[in-house]
Amino acid sequence: MTKPYDELKQEWEKDVEMTTQRFPERKEAFQTSSELPINRIYTPDQGNASYEEKIGFPGQYPYTRGIQPTMYRSRYWTMRQYAGFGSAEETNERFRYLLDQGQTGLSVAFDLPTQIGYDSDDPMADGEVGKVGVAIDSLHDMEQLFDQIPLDKVSTSMTINAPASILLAMYIAVGEKQGVSPAQLTGTIQNDILKEYIARGTYIYPPKPSMRLITDIFAYCQENLPKFNTISISGYHIREAGSTAVQEVAFTIANGMAYVDAAIEAGLEVDQFAPRLAFFFNAHNQFFEEAAKFRAARRMWASIMKDHYGAQNPKSWKLRFHTQTGGSTLTAQQPDNNIVRVTLQALAAVMGGTQSLHTNSRDEALALPTEESARIALRTQQIIANESGVADTIDPLGGSYYVEALTDQIEQEANAYIERIQQIGGAVQAVEEGFMQREIHAAAYEAQKRMESNEDIVVGLNEYQVEEEIHADLLRVDEALEKSQIEKTKHVRETRDQPAVDESLRKLREAAQLNQNVMPHIVEAVKVYATVGEIANVLRDEFGEYTGM
Ligand code: 3HC
Repeated sequence: MTKPYDELKQEWEKDVEMTTQRFPERKEAFQTSSELPINRIYTPDQGNASYEEKIGFPGQYPYTRGIQPTMYRSRYWTMRQYAGFGSAEETNERFRYLLDQGQTGLSVAFDLPTQIGYDSDDPMADGEVGKVGVAIDSLHDMEQLFDQIPLDKVSTSMTINAPASILLAMYIAVGEKQGVSPAQLTGTIQNDILKEYIARGTYIYPPKPSMRLITDIFAYCQENLPKFNTISISGYHIREAGSTAVQEVAFTIANGMAYVDAAIEAGLEVDQFAPRLAFFFNAHNQFFEEAAKFRAARRMWASIMKDHYGAQNPKSWKLRFHTQTGGSTLTAQQPDNNIVRVTLQALAAVMGGTQSLHTNSRDEALALPTEESARIALRTQQIIANESGVADTIDPLGGSYYVEALTDQIEQEANAYIERIQQIGGAVQAVEEGFMQREIHAAAYEAQKRMESNEDIVVGLNEYQVEEEIHADLLRVDEALEKSQIEKTKHVRETRDQPAVDESLRKLREAAQLNQNVMPHIVEAVKVYATVGEIANVLRDEFGEYTGM
């Protein structure tokens, strides 16, 4: 006859008393990276939420267990490796290599000049052309980037924000040249300017016109690109800037609410644009906290869209997200250790129900990844998918006393932050006041102190070090690239129909002045080979440039 629960628990508590005399616990108190207390054990009396109300079934509100009824049993997450460096031709080669190795979606990394709306021959681009991503100046480069890649079969994510409208227009133009209509195109533009002000920095225009550009894209895609995700509301860079997991969820969702508010203010109908909003989160090392974070985020967004915004369409309630493993957790020391970190982080993203995943390469604390490192990163996903069994049942961590309690705690703490942000006046106001930035900097400072005091161990960095290693096989971007890219763009300018370019830029300027949707004019401009810089400069004239908080 089994003893009653309370008696068992008391016996265990006595055992704990005894054992810790001889083996005291490693820490006075255990906490997650968000400083949430971690109990010694989680048990049925831990006030677990009611199943129907807080957990439910996958593919059903509130989606805690996942957004699809069968999740990975029907379709693995998209294996979507962020890639791009040097010229469009070089990146096209890497894209085709990764697709040949079994990658199932594309993800474009643009160089900084492109991301901040400068052509490669702009003095501001000096030394940065092709460095952290591919250099795209004109439609000519975009055609080369997608050479021999069928845009009706591959979905493409583009990490582009301030000039998102220009690169989206080029993608539409490349599709049409391949005979693929805009309505057939699938993919995502990041198009999330708020996190650029908060954490990433590739903004151009002030907040108001930037929000207008974003809602112009929502309106244009609603009509013309029904299968394209119009924004990837990102927590990734917020976390990379040093936020906690709770802040990552809270600030990202608060930004999401600001985009919904702006779109409604622009006259759009929530159930029209909301199904094409997407998210992008980070996956750091604390496995259970990360998996619980994703489950909490899904449940929060579902309730915000259904209850706060009154969205009726279930597609508006579903938080669909991409995950990238945490770049800031990679160490330059003993780079092969990063393969293990990335594996744990990728596993957390899968156990958290991600729709799409990028796994970092072991050498990315040192340089852009070599082909071999990028292949190992992709193989990591393929081994998790095909060999670990974790994709064979839905939300395997669901029902875990710890994970459900952590999901509740993260949801509670994140909602408290959102409440504070809403009291400030919403995310745009909070960003302009520097609230989120201050919170992130404080969290980053605490984490740095814990690392420097060895309270937090980073293997190879502050424990288990080895003699300094020399890293031979790193990827180097050919310095000559900048020159050849400038030549290429010069040739485009010399051979295009200049009057047609001038006319298209004139019409764009007029639309910007008259507060009309600028997307159709940007599409026309790129089709006559107006460049990223020329188009972005017209909008600089009309909107001004933002010089930071
Ligand atoms: N059952 C039924 N249908 C399913 C299914 C299942 N189990 N699984 C998938 N599907 C369907 C989906 O519903 C979808 O169809 P729909 O579009 O008609 O709804 C289709 O199959 C494709 O599935 P997903 O949409 O889930 O997968 P995608 O990969 O196409 O999209 C996304 C995922 C998160 C919605 C999308 O926004 C995306 O791909 N995002 C990627 C963003 C990205 O790569 N960002 C990289 C940024 S890099 C960066 O910024 C860091 C740098 O700064 C350092």
